[in-house]
Amino acid sequence: MRPAETGTAQGPGSLAARLFAWLVLALAVSLGFAHAAQAAFDAPVAVDVRAAGDADATRIIISFDRPVSADHKLLDHPYRLVLDFERIGYGFEAGDDTLKGMVGAMRYGDMSETGSRIIFEIGAPFEVVELSSGAAENFYRLIIDLRRTDEAAFQQALLDTMATSSIIARGSKTDRLGSAPLAPAPRSGAFTVVLDPGHGGIDSGAVGVGGTREKDVVLAFARTMRDELQAIGGVEVVMTREDDVFISLDERVRFARQHGAALFVSLHADSVRQSYVRGATVYTISDKASDSVAAEIARSENLSDSIAGIVYEEESGPVADILVDLARQETLGFSVQFARLAISHISRASRIINNPHRYAGFRVLKAPDVPSVLVELGYLSNREDEKLLNKPEWRAELAAELAAAVAEFGALSGRQLAGEARAAAGN
Ligand SMILES: *[C@@H]1O[C@H](CO)[C@@H](O)[C@H](O)[C@H]1NC(C)=O
Ligand SMILES: [Zn+2]
Repeated sequence: MRPAETGTAQGPGSLAARLFAWLVLALAVSLGFAHAAQAAFDAPVAVDVRAAGDADATRIIISFDRPVSADHKLLDHPYRLVLDFERIGYGFEAGDDTLKGMVGAMRYGDMSETGSRIIFEIGAPFEVVELSSGAAENFYRLIIDLRRTDEAAFQQALLDTMATSSIIARGSKTDRLGSAPLAPAPRSGAFTVVLDPGHGGIDSGAVGVGGTREKDVVLAFARTMRDELQAIGGVEVVMTREDDVFISLDERVRFARQHGAALFVSLHADSVRQSYVRGATVYTISDKASDSVAAEIARSENLSDSIAGIVYEEESGPVADILVDLARQETLGFSVQFARLAISHISRASRIINNPHRYAGFRVLKAPDVPSVLVELGYLSNREDEKLLNKPEWRAELAAELAAAVAEFGALSGRQLAGEARAAAGN
């Protein structure tokens, strides 16, 4: 809780009000501690991160409260050093000016229930001269010495770390989205919708002018929307993430298919270069983008995995499979049908963009057999939208409309299935 929020309780000279404010503050502080303790669940905590040096040689020192082990690898575009840990806590101040030398930016977050990652952006091709560790006073230090190299040496070092790294995502042949066997159609039982709060963990998503992080507002929104759906009833709701962890785009798609989802709704609040662009937008998949904003968003959304340092093996070209193509066609029809329903509902609660149904090549919308849409609730690059996204009442209204659209879609497809069943029975 920010001090500003408790500050409003302080009436001028009113002792009761001041006492109340203190109680609120004390409660906030104790809850804060409880939360921090719970989040770290006895994991080592990084208490300090700093880098010093010049354009040719730089030392990074990360201090922990107890011993940790780290695995490292290199990435390019941009040049990066990736450190992987067992789950750790973060007790340092982010974004202070303790990063010097060749280190540009730093990014950190949880990759799963069991793993955490810190990524340093490095200003030039480099090599890791030494990675060492040791105890110092009450801390345990991880020391990484970097030296500038040329491009060829960097590429070689990158390949070496890839070969030894256990963290390359290897999609097995059957896992490939295009050629994966279709999940058993969820013909029986409940209508399942998968809500997919975008980004998470090391991938914060867009950051608003006022500092709002996309990963936080979309998670808050998804929770509200889940509650709305549960209140309506008749719909099974599952979320791809319930807290602040990273999930790759393909995992999100796989999650929807594994749950036999009848609908996949990815929730976002991205940034675009044109800061005047605002209003809710519903995206469906297409090889060709409807417009330049759609193309820009699909490009930046596709980057999520690479921001988190996930590297995919080269995929062979798409497998021509006439059954998968037919399924895709049918699925796209449903996706578009839901997009229209969603827009008619959303427009009752929120401002919508001109041409609110747009399309582009989103990796996260690639399930061949699950109708999928990506909803931009608003755009964090727009000041007004950012304000709205931070208002719980606004989010609740929008979530209620979107939930109503899902329920309506569920009822429609239920009738369609019943119709098919009757037709089948009649034959
Ligand atoms: C996003 O990734 C998918 C899957 O790799 C690809 O088909 C699509 O063209 C990409 N879209 C853009 C805009 O780069
Ligand atoms: Zn996003």
